[in-house]
Amino acid sequence: MSFSVLFHPSEQTIISYAGETLYGAAKRNGLFFQNACGGLGTCGKCMVKIKEAGVIKEVLACKYKILADIEVFSQSFFDYSERIYLTDEILPCSCEDSLLAVKDISFSEYSFSNFVSRLESSISSIKDPDLDFIRSVAELPLESIKAVLTFGDYPCLPIQDKTGLSVGVMDLGTTAIKCSLIDLSEKRVKARGTVLNAQCVFGSDITARIEASKSYLTEMSELVWNVSLSLFRNMADKTDLAFPSLLFFAGNTVMTHIFYKVSPISIRKIPSVAPASLFPMYRRDKLSVFSVPSIAGYVGGDIVSGMAFCNFCGGESLTMLIDLGTNGEIALGGSDWSAVCSASAGPAFEGGGIKCGMGAFKGAIDKFFISPAGKIEFSTVSGDPSGICAGGLVSLISGLFAAGFVDKKGRFTDSAPFVSKVGVASRMTLFSSSQGEVFIDEEDISCFIRAKAAIYAGAESLLASFGFSWSDLDAIYIAGNIAEHVSIEDFWRIGLLPPLDKTKFKMIGNSSLLGCENMLFSRRLFNKALELAKTSFYVDLSSDPNFMERWTAALFLPHTDENLFKR
Ligand code: FES
Repeated sequence: MSFSVLFHPSEQTIISYAGETLYGAAKRNGLFFQNACGGLGTCGKCMVKIKEAGVIKEVLACKYKILADIEVFSQSFFDYSERIYLTDEILPCSCEDSLLAVKDISFSEYSFSNFVSRLESSISSIKDPDLDFIRSVAELPLESIKAVLTFGDYPCLPIQDKTGLSVGVMDLGTTAIKCSLIDLSEKRVKARGTVLNAQCVFGSDITARIEASKSYLTEMSELVWNVSLSLFRNMADKTDLAFPSLLFFAGNTVMTHIFYKVSPISIRKIPSVAPASLFPMYRRDKLSVFSVPSIAGYVGGDIVSGMAFCNFCGGESLTMLIDLGTNGEIALGGSDWSAVCSASAGPAFEGGGIKCGMGAFKGAIDKFFISPAGKIEFSTVSGDPSGICAGGLVSLISGLFAAGFVDKKGRFTDSAPFVSKVGVASRMTLFSSSQGEVFIDEEDISCFIRAKAAIYAGAESLLASFGFSWSDLDAIYIAGNIAEHVSIEDFWRIGLLPPLDKTKFKMIGNSSLLGCENMLFSRRLFNKALELAKTSFYVDLSSDPNFMERWTAALFLPHTDENLFKR
């Protein structure tokens, strides 16, 4: 027996089997409900309004079994649409320092063994060309090979036609995949793009992904591979560049292991040991793939890439990098040393763990404007509002606090507008339509305060581990998607960062992607990344007896004195 499920406002109809969950039926038809728990029924993010036999009610899509024809009022599906921006940014490069080179090769006699031996002699440091590379050479008519693309003196691609040669760079995040397409001959970034990490259907945080990898490792790897290749293909079409020959990427340690189809399960077990730090050059679908090494189970190549980009250990200054992603990693560097920690902030900085939270994709509210009179306005990344991304959450909580609508503990005050009681939690409605409402409740605010307190306490603990305090820092780099949407005053007001001299703070956006782009044409920077990965101290905050005390002390919204921000 089967039933029809009509979705509004898309007016799409799917057929479900009797007893199938709404979540499962939608998934089978390519519609993925937003979720943080992977369909376990614990996150509440798949709550939808349905109409059954004329009665409208709210249900959890992952728990609701379809036993009649129904209508569903929801637009809260994961959005896999790509966003691509064309650009024309020249990358700093000197020919001697470049990691990438296209080496011309000429043949007097064409034979496979001759080719390999010539390759060995033309690229002096090559002793043993990678077997996959040799296999790919063997597939081509040798007379058609004009050159070899090398990466750090390692041959990675035989080239038949040098026209429009491109290289792809990727930041592999738990929530989003961000890519750049680089014109190799001009050494320019021609396009940047972003797409949701399709593994989100397995849950929003690292823990859920590790659990899912026990059963779906190959599928999870394929999901990332397919969406990133599709993004590169569309960027190449838009720029008239060839599909990339090399993919160079950085990601957190768990995402990187899943990408290579290596089980990350040991990372979840104490003492969180990752099976590998540096993976060898890899061939997949005729694409050469190489990634930035990681430091520890919860400090990945994305942080190493960011540290290299911020020129850690490149001078006398004391520098901190805070990456506000799904976990919240922090790095600290002096003139000849560096240290890292993971603040275990959870997924709140990617919109996870918040009932109406979402990544910075279509429909995400990324900025709120709250007047003291209680007027609430906002902007979205694009389209009609369907949720709040992390940037929106920071500006919302900061704005509500500044206007006196939430107190220091994050509870709504009597003057707060649009507040109602739903169950035990007070909820503020920010937007409503026939498809549902976008709201924030006191549990969400509390979840966010716990996350920001973890970052603050983590950074303070890392500083204290080496005898420093906040005021000793010369530069504080804030990285992550959120850094593209939020002002430093908002961070100060909610107490994620202390109100120090404003010139010390630098919002740098996606430092992982920027680091990879710059490393391609700088052997010095690449070598620095390798060195940082090898030598950075890993500070385990779970064994720091003062971390919990600092975290508890940071569980409030601290600053209402606006004069503090005028310095
Ligand atoms: Fe349904 Fe999490 S509660 S997906």
